[in-house]
Amino acid sequence: MSAFSSVLLSPLASFFSTTEDKVFHVVKCVLAFLFLLLCDRILKQHEKNEKEKKAIGEPIETTTDDVMTMKKGDLTRKELKQFDGKSDDKKPFLLLACKGTIFDVTKGRDFYGPGGPYNCFCGKDASLAFAKVSTSEEHMNANCSNLFAMEVDALNDWYRKFEEKYPVVGKVRDSDFKAPKKRKKTKASSK
Ligand code: HEM
Repeated sequence: MSAFSSVLLSPLASFFSTTEDKVFHVVKCVLAFLFLLLCDRILKQHEKNEKEKKAIGEPIETTTDDVMTMKKGDLTRKELKQFDGKSDDKKPFLLLACKGTIFDVTKGRDFYGPGGPYNCFCGKDASLAFAKVSTSEEHMNANCSNLFAMEVDALNDWYRKFEEKYPVVGKVRDSDFKAPKKRKKTKASSK
């Protein structure tokens, strides 16, 4: 062994002089590694929780009309319910769903805000109400599987209108909206 390596390694050699020292050192290293791993997990989980908290109701961008729009992402029906302008002061956005797609109608606050004529559509999937051109509560969050042809057309027209005018936020995760399969003929169209 050269003089240099003997100088360098002698303290280490004396440090690991006994088997117990070696075992103790290895145990310490493993514990330190596990501790760092645990810290990393906790930090990652914390970041994830913060991200999820922000995902709901966080204003992120400004549209050309200078109205803040909501961060994009899918919502459950329960989450969507909070965006009717009345349920939660901390949720400034007005959202409605048509055919399972959520639109941010905040810029139409005069129509959709509390006290407005169409606030009844907010926080829910109002597809049946759009199909039947109704504002009745019984047509909110209701099944759309049995529609007349003209109702399907009306629903699709409303959908296009929302698509043209309002930003899409995402989908209703647990939506029970099913595209009407059969277009039942109305008396007028069967002639
Ligand atoms: C007396 C009956 C009603 C009158 C006089 C009326 C009148 C209006 C008017 C003037 C607008 C604005 C149109 C525009 O932007 O140029 C409008 C928009 C609208 N109406 Fe009605 N409406 C009536 C009933 C209904 C009903 C029953 C529904 C149910 C589906 C409905 C849903 C809507 C929706 C979704 C909008 C679009 C608002 C937007 O641009 O975001 N309306 N209505």
